[in-house]
Amino acid sequence: MARWAVFPVNDTQFPAQTGHKPVATRFAKLALDMRMHPDFIHEFVPGTSNRTLLLLHGTGGNERDLIALGRELDPNAALLSPRGKVLENGMPRFFRRLAEGVFDLEDLKHRTNELADFVIAAAQHYGFASDNLIAVGYSNGANIAASMLLLRPEALPAAILFRAMVPFYPETQPNLSSVRVWMGAGTNDPIIPISETRALAELLHNAGADVTVRNFQAGHELTMADVEAAREWLTALQ
Ligand code: MLT
Repeated sequence: MARWAVFPVNDTQFPAQTGHKPVATRFAKLALDMRMHPDFIHEFVPGTSNRTLLLLHGTGGNERDLIALGRELDPNAALLSPRGKVLENGMPRFFRRLAEGVFDLEDLKHRTNELADFVIAAAQHYGFASDNLIAVGYSNGANIAASMLLLRPEALPAAILFRAMVPFYPETQPNLSSVRVWMGAGTNDPIIPISETRALAELLHNAGADVTVRNFQAGHELTMADVEAAREWLTALQ
């Protein structure tokens, strides 16, 4: 769904005797121009309000994983859901890691910029308002959303981060004074200890963001309590 196909061109079928560009070549150029740069495999579901949720799945997920969650959080918002481009043992992720919780920072920064550029291109392509875009990330998806806030804050005015940690400590503190963030942590999360979520909350808060943190009696998995609390926060944001 929602991907542009480039149709094949065979210039030999259109010898350039007329001096004009072959028709198929011109069409292919047009199709290429209409593609997003950079592009991700993604789903885009139009909404009935001017809000768009950027859905970012966890390790091993894909572009369809969080569609139902997005609808649950806001039945009227448009949904943009890319699939992470990195494969770890066949499992899609948004950036490379060296071990659990140990990130390849060069790749993380490169992928963060690529995702931010995709979001900007998608806003133009689908015609949604980029100043009303809210990331909804889970685990690895929450971590790249946090990385976007730190590296490309202009691309993301708000974020819901389920089970997030500090992706990296920036050399220059971003200005997040107009950014709002909701975070949900699991008190028994074996992958992302609650201290990590707190450290990220502090980092974002020190950069000026309005941060809400909620702790849930849960592990790494998402619970209904997380979803209900995030929905309440999102509704109040309107
Ligand atoms: C990450 O790699 O982003 C975090 O360790 C969460 C995970 O995906 O397991």
